[in-house]
Amino acid sequence: MLNDVTFYYYSPTGGTKKTGNLFCREAAKKTEIINLTPMSGRVKKSESDAPAVIAVPVFGGRVPETAARQLRTVEGRGRTAVTIVVYGNRAYEDALLELNDIAEECGFRVTASGAFIAQHSMVPEVGAGRPDDADAEQIREFARRAVQKIESGDAQPPEVPGNRPYKEGMNMQISPVCTSSCTLCETCEDVCPENAILIRQGAVSTDPALCTLCIACVAACPVKARILPQPLQERTEKMLSPFRQMRRENETFL
Ligand SMILES: Cc1cc2nc3c(=O)[nH]c(=O)nc-3n(C[C@H](O)[C@H](O)[C@H](O)COP(=O)(O)O)c2cc1C
Repeated sequence: MLNDVTFYYYSPTGGTKKTGNLFCREAAKKTEIINLTPMSGRVKKSESDAPAVIAVPVFGGRVPETAARQLRTVEGRGRTAVTIVVYGNRAYEDALLELNDIAEECGFRVTASGAFIAQHSMVPEVGAGRPDDADAEQIREFARRAVQKIESGDAQPPEVPGNRPYKEGMNMQISPVCTSSCTLCETCEDVCPENAILIRQGAVSTDPALCTLCIACVAACPVKARILPQPLQERTEKMLSPFRQMRRENETFL
């Protein structure tokens, strides 16, 4: 077990954070946590030389733009890094390769990588209940093997799947909407990482230019009044229907 790790994460609905936490608890006695969501202000600078764990979700087979932008402000300073992408049981496509490229650009030395499954934030019936107990054990096993590799001094970077140039980003100018059951409780405004939601004079408005469709507001709404526009929800459910019954398996690269 390592003494310390620094855990960088972007996790609008909590699946990525959960996976990363399971890893860090198994890998090190102490974890310094650095949240990459923009609403927590400028990315905190770590003074530590401990290995880093960098975890992001997959959006459209890519690293979410916000996570990439925030991560690019981090100085790797030659630190060892373990990279993790978390996806909703469909596919991670170019996301892990892109994450490793960004980490290397920042000056990290990536030594182990993993792609793990969590519940799909847009259609929670896909990958429902994941990470489950079996996933948790695989994440812990990956942590033990990654620590072993780090402690052995083996700096060989892992080969991960994916293509360059990466697939085209999602770039959807569409945002969640509120139904009439909205109580104007302001939870959505509070949790939006992009400050895209404004509640004024009894109405909720969302700036589509700022919204990244990260689903934080939909997941956090206490009365389920925050939803995707019906045509998008239907299209997404149809696209994801083959992945409802299928169980994708976690993959690790060392
Ligand atoms: C806009 C958007 C795009 C997504 N694209 C993919 C994808 O390409 N493949 C996939 O398997 N899951 C996809 N997902 C599901 C997320 O990767 C998954 O739910 C992840 O756990 C979300 O992370 P979080 O819980 O930390 O927010 C997408 C989710 C959102 C909101």
